[in-house]
Amino acid sequence: MKIIHITDFHLVAPDEMLWGLDPRERASLCLDDIARWHGDADFCVISGDLTNQGDARAYAWLKNRLEKFPLRTFLMVGNHDVRDSFSKAFPDTGRDENGFIQHTHETDHGMFLFLDTLKGPVSEGEYCPARRDWLAGQLKAAALKPVWIFMHHPPFDIGLPYMDRIKLEEPEAFSEVLSAHKDIRHIFFGHVHRAAYVNWRGIPCTCLPGTNHQIPLKRESVGTPYSVEPPMYGVVLIDEDQTIVNFEPCLDRKPADMG
Ligand SMILES: [Fe+2]
Repeated sequence: MKIIHITDFHLVAPDEMLWGLDPRERASLCLDDIARWHGDADFCVISGDLTNQGDARAYAWLKNRLEKFPLRTFLMVGNHDVRDSFSKAFPDTGRDENGFIQHTHETDHGMFLFLDTLKGPVSEGEYCPARRDWLAGQLKAAALKPVWIFMHHPPFDIGLPYMDRIKLEEPEAFSEVLSAHKDIRHIFFGHVHRAAYVNWRGIPCTCLPGTNHQIPLKRESVGTPYSVEPPMYGVVLIDEDQTIVNFEPCLDRKPADMG
């Protein structure tokens, strides 16, 4: 099966720019590229920070834009989102019994889990006991089926001090819940705005640049906390014995000079 991972749109109100860029234009061009070249994918996941400040107009824009996008799309919240504003725009997105925006999708290949790690505005992530109970229940229900997890905040450092300070809190408690399941194939995360691979306690994990702005690996290399680097989406191919993630820099792709 093929799925698409995309993250950190950071949409703002229709008359606003963000860090000198137009988040709507860049997200829309990425969605166009996915629709053109990967319209055969089974589904798409946008792993949080859909908006920059939870603006209702930004969610409304996204809702409207996704109506023209051909793939089934699972939405998640990040630390720049606001649950209530999100839910007003997307009332059909699954919530758990405590109102957290986390849900599941079962396929012939296994179970996909979409977690809610939102704590508060522009902050570290939280996965509280109530959410951990939900996850434990889903992993138990998955039994022997393979599991793929999507979450906004990573539960580990990625070697980027600026972001490592605001990773998921209580990673040990989270890790303990995961340890009950023996076939977690991959964790897809967002938040760090970079293409990164981490093997965390035996689980492969990947992240992507945001579609708007990025975070420089070395702040001194650009002199600002954010940078402008190629946006990417992930094309994920899954079969029984492997999970492939190709990182597609869709706005920075052009023919080579074959002169
Ligand atoms: Fe973000």
